[in-house]
Amino acid sequence: MRKDLLSIKDLDIEDIESIFSMSADLKQRRQKPQDALFAPLQRKTLAMIFQKASTRTRISFEVGMYQLGGRALYLDKNDLQMGRGEPLVDTARILSRYVDAVLVRTYQHKEVEDLAKFAAIPVINGLTDKLHPCQIISDMFTIKEKKGRLKNLKIAYIGDGNNIANSWLYAAAKMNLHLWIACPLGYEPDRGIIKEVMSPEIVEKKQIVICQDPKEAAYQADIMYTDVWASMGQEEEQKKRIRDFAGYQIDEALLQKAREDVLVMHCLPAHRGEEITEAALEGKNSIVFDQAENRLYAQQAILLKLLAEDAL
Ligand code: CP
Ligand code: NVA
Repeated sequence: MRKDLLSIKDLDIEDIESIFSMSADLKQRRQKPQDALFAPLQRKTLAMIFQKASTRTRISFEVGMYQLGGRALYLDKNDLQMGRGEPLVDTARILSRYVDAVLVRTYQHKEVEDLAKFAAIPVINGLTDKLHPCQIISDMFTIKEKKGRLKNLKIAYIGDGNNIANSWLYAAAKMNLHLWIACPLGYEPDRGIIKEVMSPEIVEKKQIVICQDPKEAAYQADIMYTDVWASMGQEEEQKKRIRDFAGYQIDEALLQKAREDVLVMHCLPAHRGEEITEAALEGKNSIVFDQAENRLYAQQAILLKLLAEDAL
């Protein structure tokens, strides 16, 4: 495993597979009271710099550290001298002398890359405008847990070509998954990432397809996945986006196109009535809360992988 976790693109398939098995192991251990003493991250500290809001990422990493015997420091960027202009390269080097790893949630992806470059300790991408790797690693674990496999499943992502869609593209290319993305014209995933992943072979096999028709993407899908239409930082575009994304909602009619045992997923937070209906989010095919729960185990597995690989 490399020093940092910035993108699924940088991980080896073996690293991802081992994160899945460690996540399953950690989930099982949680049910056993005697495993409360399992503390492989004792005396380890994770600094968590947040420039955007977070419920799941913050709490899963914070509680995750605590349960494994370590601790986490929640740092709002504006409370750090960084907020008053202290250079990132200085912050990275200072943190390297105090803590064992840093989790960062910010806007520009380059910021986490720069931090990783100058920090001597592991840096974890807790979401940037471009990518959200920890989410998709956890989501693949959830799919594997529910379906017993990842291969030969049709994953349909309906909606905005945002950080979640971009991360799915890297995941699909890396893990050889069958992915359809349906988004309105002008809201496609990152052009550079599309260019990177769409090898002639992937295009030829239709292993990854990017289209504009949600029905085509949803047809016979095993997984229907969506995310908000306006991500953090795009609040001002919200009204325009609601108009532009009309027809891209996961609702009962779209679910009818999918397989009967389709699993409905959403990284959350959800905007009911926009990208997904209340009925679809709360319906019998929805696994969104199990999906959110698994963030805890997947994030713990990532922490162990970076800080105490031999612990399990
Ligand atoms: N899905 C996710 O990352 O949620 P938060 O923004 O609450 O961390
Ligand atoms: N695309 C969303 C994901 C939130 C977890 C955002 O960036 O706001």
